[in-house]
Amino acid sequence: MANFKAVKVTDKVYWVGVVDWALRNFHGYTTHRGSTYNAYLILDEKVVLVDTVKTPFKEQFLERISDVIEPEKIDYIISNHSEMDHSGLLPFMVEYVKPEKVFASSMGVKALAEQFHWDVDVVAVKDGDSISVGEDEVVFYETRMLHWPDSMFSYLKGERVLFSQDAFAMHLATGALFADEVDRCTLEYEAATYYANILMPYSNLVLNLFKKLEKTDVSPVVIATDHGPIYRRKEDIDWILENYRRWAEQKPVKKAVVVYDTMWGSTAKMAHAIADGIAREGVDVNVVHLGGAHRSDVATEVLLSGALIVGSPTLNNNIFPSVADVLTYLKGLRPKNLIGAAFGSYGWSGESVKQVREILESMGIEVVGEVSSKYVPDGEVLSRCRELGVNVAKRLKELCGN
Ligand code: FEO
Repeated sequence: MANFKAVKVTDKVYWVGVVDWALRNFHGYTTHRGSTYNAYLILDEKVVLVDTVKTPFKEQFLERISDVIEPEKIDYIISNHSEMDHSGLLPFMVEYVKPEKVFASSMGVKALAEQFHWDVDVVAVKDGDSISVGEDEVVFYETRMLHWPDSMFSYLKGERVLFSQDAFAMHLATGALFADEVDRCTLEYEAATYYANILMPYSNLVLNLFKKLEKTDVSPVVIATDHGPIYRRKEDIDWILENYRRWAEQKPVKKAVVVYDTMWGSTAKMAHAIADGIAREGVDVNVVHLGGAHRSDVATEVLLSGALIVGSPTLNNNIFPSVADVLTYLKGLRPKNLIGAAFGSYGWSGESVKQVREILESMGIEVVGEVSSKYVPDGEVLSRCRELGVNVAKRLKELCGN
């Protein structure tokens, strides 16, 4: 008996991925709940493997494939994305099963050659190309920069299964393979966290992709992602597509996040006063102390907020290191349509607030104001912090139309 079983998704599609329960760091993104690396078999006249998994999971992967079919019977391998969590075992599988053909996008062909320094003849497919697999066919759609240059979707046309690689995915290790079997709050948080940390910089391309797909006959009844649960109910597919549209648009929302770190509690007092001012105006606010939060969780908060208020003490004429870390990360993620503010305390030089403001402005954020405090904030400074919070909330309401 195979130790690890495959899971039937449709008549012709089986999940043969692996679960990485222990993963806590995905290139700088904290994955509190681990992840899965999903791979799929299509069983038609041709046997097709869609993507592989990370190299340490070779045994588990082979056992799941073997639960359905002898690996040597795989005819085609499709590489939707050349990042190592999906292509890691591709060289091994090519050597092991000797497939008739390997398919990737033209950028994928280049990326695989540069990663593996191999001489495998990978067939480049273009947007709209299709291959017959027997009764059914697979159509390819390039999704460049979502989120790598090589990324593409594969669509099993007859069964209407969209293999969407990283798109619509989430880092969530779970024994439940389908989205309808997972708690909705967990899905919502992990899907948003994944979007914020992986796809947010490419939000305009996400919107363009929606427009492109509307002109095709792609109408999936299953979305089979490369991480986390598979969507198989119409309501779940509609839910994730609608969320992607909302996250890609990032229209102003009546929610603010105050992000800060503190040395001796002064910047913390200011953060709490600003949050109080925001809440007094009826705007939802969350306060994140970087002493206990990771940059990738801040990214989620920013995706779901309309205002980003950042506080930093001055340390050695600079922004506090944890605040610099999160701002550098957020700048790379290119959030849209935010307003913001800067605040912080200092002992004698006090450069940090100006530096935070400059970074926020360089991110295209409309900065509503700033407050500095020399040493511990007194009643007057805290009053200015509350006023700043009120002003942020009022501007946000104005932008939201109420
Ligand atoms: Fe899941 Fe971009 O790799």
